[in-house]
Amino acid sequence: MPAPMIVTLVKAPAFPLAAGMSGLDDHIHAGQPQLEWREGGVPVSTRFDDPYFSLAGGLAETRHVFLAGNDLPARLRPGFHIAELGFGTGLNCLALAQIAQVPVVMTSFEAFPMDTAQLAQAHAAFPELAPLAAQLRGGWGQPVIRVGQVDLHLRIGDVADMLPPWQGRADAWFLDGFSPAKNPQMWDDAIMAQVGRHTAPRGTFATYTAAGAVRRALADAGFAVERQPGFGRKRHMSVGRMPDQSGTSPGAPGPSPAA
Ligand SMILES: C[S@@+](CC[C@H](N)C(=O)[O-])C[C@H]1O[C@@H](n2cnc3c(N)ncnc32)[C@H](O)[C@@H]1O
Repeated sequence: MPAPMIVTLVKAPAFPLAAGMSGLDDHIHAGQPQLEWREGGVPVSTRFDDPYFSLAGGLAETRHVFLAGNDLPARLRPGFHIAELGFGTGLNCLALAQIAQVPVVMTSFEAFPMDTAQLAQAHAAFPELAPLAAQLRGGWGQPVIRVGQVDLHLRIGDVADMLPPWQGRADAWFLDGFSPAKNPQMWDDAIMAQVGRHTAPRGTFATYTAAGAVRRALADAGFAVERQPGFGRKRHMSVGRMPDQSGTSPGAPGPSPAA
């Protein structure tokens, strides 16, 4: 009698994968995050030896650095496009969805996507975001995930592969790789130049880092770059704005130094 045939059904992921990540298995084995959990439910990457968000208040940090740093929600208009380097737990996306009153688009680049159980564990620390977080996890794996008023497009793969061919241009960037010292691939000159190339006139960026090399690379990419007060114990963060179409720079986004 012939041996019984075992058929394993593998559901193809709907996320677009980078070159070399051809199927779900590659996706899982090449790209899974390596996590441990600190007190208060903060995920820490053991691959990069860095937490995903501030141990001293992740949501408050997101609001200070990425939302206020890009002068959001004041600039949101229907179709406004936010892009992000490093989706992680989706905390920045959820904080954006919480303040977005009009339909906006977000594209986020991520090489090591969490699974829904890991996302749920991270989201448990933010009960006020629970309905939006449930929406995000409910759509996980779909090409476009609706979270409140945000249409989220996840680009799964190494940013060096995924960002250059991207057709979009962002009105605002959340630059949120792990620290430049531990995750230099997310901040190198070529990636920062690509960020500049994929930014609309008067488009902005915000990031928690004030590392000189990152600020210089972003200035070389065309942004007027400024240092601003950082979150918590971080003395500085960085923001910047592209010139308008005439080449005039209206200055950096975000709260004025007096604010
Ligand atoms: C600080 S965490 C992002 C936190 C996230 N924005 C949040 O709201 O939770 C940095 C993220 O960058 C991702 N990452 C690191 N190197 C990458 C690379 N070369 N390409 C794409 N993503 C990368 C990590 O997997 C991680 O999810």
